[in-house]
Amino acid sequence: MRISVIGTGVVGRTLAHGLAGGGHDVVVGTRSPDETAAREEWSDSNLRLAPMEGVADGADLVVNATSGVGTLEALGRVGPSLDGKVLLDISNPLDFSRGFPPTLSVKDTDSLAEQVQRAFPETRVVKSLNMMTASVMLDPIPGTTVFVAGNDAEARRTVADLLRSFGWEHLIEFPSIEAARGLEMWLPLWVRLMGVLGTPEFNLRIVTREAPA
Ligand SMILES: NC(=O)c1ccc[n+]([C@@H]2O[C@H](COP(=O)([O-])OP(=O)(O)OC[C@H]3O[C@@H](n4cnc5c(N)ncnc54)[C@H](OP(=O)(O)O)[C@@H]3O)[C@@H](O)[C@H]2O)c1
Repeated sequence: MRISVIGTGVVGRTLAHGLAGGGHDVVVGTRSPDETAAREEWSDSNLRLAPMEGVADGADLVVNATSGVGTLEALGRVGPSLDGKVLLDISNPLDFSRGFPPTLSVKDTDSLAEQVQRAFPETRVVKSLNMMTASVMLDPIPGTTVFVAGNDAEARRTVADLLRSFGWEHLIEFPSIEAARGLEMWLPLWVRLMGVLGTPEFNLRIVTREAPA
């Protein structure tokens, strides 16, 4: 697939390298390709960097890996090239302005994914992978669960197929982007779990009780 990854932090880098390594044609969107290329963590990368403007042109899939506070501005820069595209939204609405642990800039009755869906009504937004650290996204912890939420069934299938190609076996789909509220509200617990577990390398496993006979 031709995949545009928007975002140059650890998530964008990890996914872009993994996707390119898996044979996908990957381009990474950033506000300034020159400044990003000069950053140490990008110095030995052979990934293609491009300005955000129009970076989704011709893409089969677009990945949003931008900071929560920057997501709407970043996607605004990407602009009309997002129309009709499947957008895998990994972002979280984390607000670090009052330090750590962060709070959520949107919650309960709305979510960042829904804000994105409203701002880009022609784009098919699918929320997934936001509930785990970057290294786990491409290297699932066996037996754990990944959620996929979005309004468009075909878009969810595109994302689910990609996740299976990473090795994910236990997927739970939500047929509405509204479910992203819950997926994003996992983050306040996630950051506290990281504190007590002493590692970001963990994930949820959803287990149901057998129905009584
Ligand atoms: N870190 C993790 O393991 C993890 C796990 C799950 C979900 N997430 C979520 O994934 C997203 C990416 O996380 P990250 O840690 O990789 O990176 P990050 O530091 O949260 O975000 C970096 C990206 O955001 C862009 N950005 C920041 N402010 C912007 C603005 N005002 N306008 C346009 N673009 C802006 C930057 O653009 P430039 O390239 O131009 O600098 C850069 O590409 C976040 O929403 C995070 O909550 C992270």
